[in-house]
Amino acid sequence: MPETVIRRATPADAQALSAIGRDTFVETFGHLYPPDDLRAFLAASYGLRKTHADLADPTKAAWLVEEDGKVVGHAMAGPCDLPHDGVAPGDGELKRLYILAAHQGGGAGSRLLAQTFDWLLKDGPRTLWIGVWSENFGAQRLYARHGFEKAGEYEFAVGQIRDREFILRRAAGS
Ligand SMILES: CC(C)(COP(=O)(O)OP(=O)(O)OC[C@H]1O[C@@H](n2cnc3c(N)ncnc32)[C@H](O)[C@@H]1OP(=O)(O)O)[C@@H](O)C(=O)NCCC(=O)NCCS
Repeated sequence: MPETVIRRATPADAQALSAIGRDTFVETFGHLYPPDDLRAFLAASYGLRKTHADLADPTKAAWLVEEDGKVVGHAMAGPCDLPHDGVAPGDGELKRLYILAAHQGGGAGSRLLAQTFDWLLKDGPRTLWIGVWSENFGAQRLYARHGFEKAGEYEFAVGQIRDREFILRRAAGS
């Protein structure tokens, strides 16, 4: 069995976090978008400049999942910036949760989720939010098991494409 290690990403991990961010997004959702749109989105969301900024932001946290020393997944959490009227100052959001396909199904995703929730709730109960693609049924099942319910929808833009995205919420203390 490979040894799976989950650790907080530091500024020194910017390159690794940027690379696993791009790789997992392309693997999961790359087929949905025209190449030019995808390229521009990846640069803006997962490029080194953005990744350095994310890692320097004290209100956010990121994690790397390593199996036998190879990075196979990542997560990011921070303040909620989803477009929903119910979002209040102080609410938290799971922003990213990805494991490379070849390493899924072994429990790493659930462990990663538990670590992000521990961090999000380290100062006490608060409402948590997640945005998830409307057709990502596996992830929706996982979040439902953790008490998240659909609270709304929005359009997630990648270039010209608009994806239907569900907004999930779990009330503080539930
Ligand atoms: C969601 C994800 C991080 C879970 O990681 P994992 O290591 O497979 O998770 P675990 O083995 O701990 O748990 C499996 C649960 O994750 C979900 N899951 C499994 N495969 C999945 C997949 N390909 N896509 C989405 N969710 C999946 C299911 O709810 C599953 O539970 P089940 O087996 O009872 O149905 C991982 O599947 C993944 O990276 N998927 C693609 C990216 C993604 O959809 N991220 C969420 C964006 S909001």
